[in-house]
Amino acid sequence: MKDRKFYIETYGCQMNVADSEIVHSIMLDNGLKPTEQPEDADVIFVNTCSIRDNAERKVWDRLKYFRSIKRTVNNDMVVGVLGCMAERVRDRFLDQEKLVDLVVGPDAYRELPNLLEEVEDGRKAVNVILSQEETYADITPVRTTGNGVSAFVSVMRGCNNMCSFCVVPFTRGRERSRSINSILDELRMLSDKGYKEVTLLGQNVNSYNDNGKRFAELMYQSSLVDPEMRIRFSTSHPKDFPDELLHVINERPNICEYIHIPAQSGNSEILERMRRPYTREEYLKLIYKMREIIPGVSLSTDIITGFCGETEAQHQDTLSLMREVRYDLAYMFAYSERERTLANRKYEDDISEAVKKRRLTEIITQQQGIQEENNKKEIGRTHIVLVEGTSKRSDEQLNGRTDTNKMVVFDRDNYKIGDYVEVEIIDSTAATLIGKPIRTTTIADFNTHYAMA
Ligand code: 5AD
Ligand code: SF4
Repeated sequence: MKDRKFYIETYGCQMNVADSEIVHSIMLDNGLKPTEQPEDADVIFVNTCSIRDNAERKVWDRLKYFRSIKRTVNNDMVVGVLGCMAERVRDRFLDQEKLVDLVVGPDAYRELPNLLEEVEDGRKAVNVILSQEETYADITPVRTTGNGVSAFVSVMRGCNNMCSFCVVPFTRGRERSRSINSILDELRMLSDKGYKEVTLLGQNVNSYNDNGKRFAELMYQSSLVDPEMRIRFSTSHPKDFPDELLHVINERPNICEYIHIPAQSGNSEILERMRRPYTREEYLKLIYKMREIIPGVSLSTDIITGFCGETEAQHQDTLSLMREVRYDLAYMFAYSERERTLANRKYEDDISEAVKKRRLTEIITQQQGIQEENNKKEIGRTHIVLVEGTSKRSDEQLNGRTDTNKMVVFDRDNYKIGDYVEVEIIDSTAATLIGKPIRTTTIADFNTHYAMA
């Protein structure tokens, strides 16, 4: 396989980004070289997402494009589908559409070199076996995003929650946790390489369990690795958020004060139908507790609108929940029916696309207003910002995020990517804060200064 080039395109969640970095590492170990141009590649991987129908449609379009370059540029090109869609639509890829040569699910990436050989021998290769153990703990991902400043570290895989709308338990299999030691080793290595921020990833990190060691302990230990390296995490389920974790977040200066805590709906009956084991009231209680234990904590959510049977009044409950919490960020989606899920088997997808769209627009519009107001309150405050890159709008400006996960744009001056900069907020929009840089700083200095002030 010498001198062959591979290209990876990634769709979907941060977990897929992390998985693509594992695949990248496996390919390098097998002598392939990366390329940024699909037209130059001998092997194209599309790491796919099945969460909603529009995510899958994008992938089908890309596969058709890759088939066309295969026909015109390189007939021997191998096209492989990785990730969630490999699990969900494996047969269609190979039989009906003849778009791909290789179909590999999220737990079978170690087999990729062997599977590529099978393809070279003229066979189609498939491995969609889900595992109870695979965590890729011993494979060091090749970081392709994050500018050498921030990195994703996957700490657990799969999901056992079986929310009734969600295809993830079928595509990613059972929950399993990576050992705490292998995670801490990876964090040490990242710190040695100069990384300033890591995000611990899992479908539901609160289910993390390494022989009784739970997520709060993992977070605490992680924060000790390098006090100047920020720790973030994603994503949490409201059903099992422990107080201990809230205290760890509050007490450790390098753990970011930002929690992604998906509500999905603001109506208890819908939540029950979604198989989310909490009520609106219990969710709100958790939010108040978060704000009590971590003053100033920033919160974000996922919301699904137009779920089976959702009435106008239930939709209003979602709007009112979002007004009550005043999230700093929200990811909002129209319900998309997925095969095999409980909702698909048990309930009718009876809200019309037009109504779903209208409700979605309503929650997005309201949320934008809330974010605008929240961000206005930031004017005059000072934050520690980790510089992540150059602003998309201007080379003269840098961007980075506050501890509370808000994007800040400010003049470049002499600051560099990877610096912590003390920034005073001078203006804002619904999505971004505009800042004035004051000086470079450290987490320790910034906290001492602001604790004294
Ligand atoms: N339709 C719409 N949104 C969905 N999500 C998961 N499944 C679906 C679906 N079938 C959303 C949830 C979840 C986020 C990752 O995607 O809000 O938290
Ligand atoms: Fe899907 Fe629910 Fe698991 Fe999240 S917690 S991945 S929404 S089943």
